[in-house]
Amino acid sequence: MPVPHVLLSAAVSLDGYLDDTGPDRLLLSSPADFDRVDEVRASVDAILVGAGTIRADNPRLLVNSAERRAARRAAGQPEYPLKVTVSASGDLDPDARFWHTGGDKVLYTTDKGAARVPRLPADTTVVPLGPDIDWRALLTHLHDVRGVRRLMVEGGGTVHTQLLQQGLADELQLAVAPLFVGEPTAPRLFGPGAYQAGRLRLCETRPLGDTVLMRYEPTAPGAGPLPHAADRHWLRLACELAALCPPSDTAFSVGAVVVAADGTELARGHSREGGDPVVHAEEAALAKVDVGDARLAGATVYSSLEPCARRASRPRACARLILDAGVRRVVTAWREPDTFVAGADGCGVLVGEGADVVVLPELEGMAVRPNRHLVG
Ligand SMILES: NC(=O)c1ccc[n+]([C@@H]2O[C@H](COP(=O)([O-])OP(=O)(O)OC[C@H]3O[C@@H](n4cnc5c(N)ncnc54)[C@H](OP(=O)(O)O)[C@@H]3O)[C@@H](O)[C@H]2O)c1
Repeated sequence: MPVPHVLLSAAVSLDGYLDDTGPDRLLLSSPADFDRVDEVRASVDAILVGAGTIRADNPRLLVNSAERRAARRAAGQPEYPLKVTVSASGDLDPDARFWHTGGDKVLYTTDKGAARVPRLPADTTVVPLGPDIDWRALLTHLHDVRGVRRLMVEGGGTVHTQLLQQGLADELQLAVAPLFVGEPTAPRLFGPGAYQAGRLRLCETRPLGDTVLMRYEPTAPGAGPLPHAADRHWLRLACELAALCPPSDTAFSVGAVVVAADGTELARGHSREGGDPVVHAEEAALAKVDVGDARLAGATVYSSLEPCARRASRPRACARLILDAGVRRVVTAWREPDTFVAGADGCGVLVGEGADVVVLPELEGMAVRPNRHLVG
């Protein structure tokens, strides 16, 4: 199920706090960073905060710049992004500024919470999601029902922690402020729990006054059949590699990346790499990994086109090579059409031997692009 691109946005003290314990909101960002946040808000379809942030900070969550709002209108978007909050309890102040500023709002809650929600303004839609709130269901609802493609999450720590730990955050935008909080009971950006092993990818650093913006992307593949945000990043890279293939009228252009469970890239490859006219992308990538590498057992192979199930040019097809390498998870964008092999079902071969296969159709267009001359 497609979900929006989720960006987590927060300002944090040097000792990792989101706020202090005083009654007023602690201002961490510099003026230049507040302006950047306004720009990001203007670029998204929706902004989400947890009910804890509404109770603690009473935020408006608006696009403050009149020029940016005008640009949104000119582009056919609503003046303000949709405002979204989540509360299991339904314990919400109907006078909070969140409800009385900006455009449409959505409250996701539980069945029990829905019974306790106070009377809210008419532009608020209350969506009960059952006995508990499942983030994937919430994001799917935002995508499918509200048309949200980019979601900015502005805290607090409880919400950020869950989205990151569940592999649903595509990027992290952290503004680090040069001050300390030093209070052990103050809210932290990230709580305890199971995070991805390994390092995230640094995408950008930018000084903004006396704060520094850092943008990171998670790198660890998902485990099992559910896609994680990092799966989309790696599959996008595989699709970009496909564009590097020497053109051919008799074979697909495909890119592949092999990634360990902790997000370390083990190898990458593409079709017809290194002057070999018949080498396939997965074959080229796997050939670069030591056969005894223990990380292969927990690795994921990303391939822009599903691994082949049969081939004439080599004794083993790519689905077989992947299984023989010990890899048990494959993520692909495009099921193989009948152009060269009728009824090819590499995914079926993989699943038949116990591998997890994830197909991300939202990247199919990118995988097809270097092959348009073959498939129209
Ligand atoms: N520095 C920054 O950039 C920044 C940004 C935002 C917030 N903050 C700070 O963060 C603090 C608030 O953080 P917080 O962690 O307490 O609150 P929070 O993350 O904003 O909200 C937590 C609340 O959201 C609801 N919720 C979260 N996950 C849920 C789930 N899976 N199912 C159902 N409900 C769920 C619950 O509401 P119910 O309790 O109603 O069930 C929960 O208590 C404040 O001090 C604020 O100033 C700082």
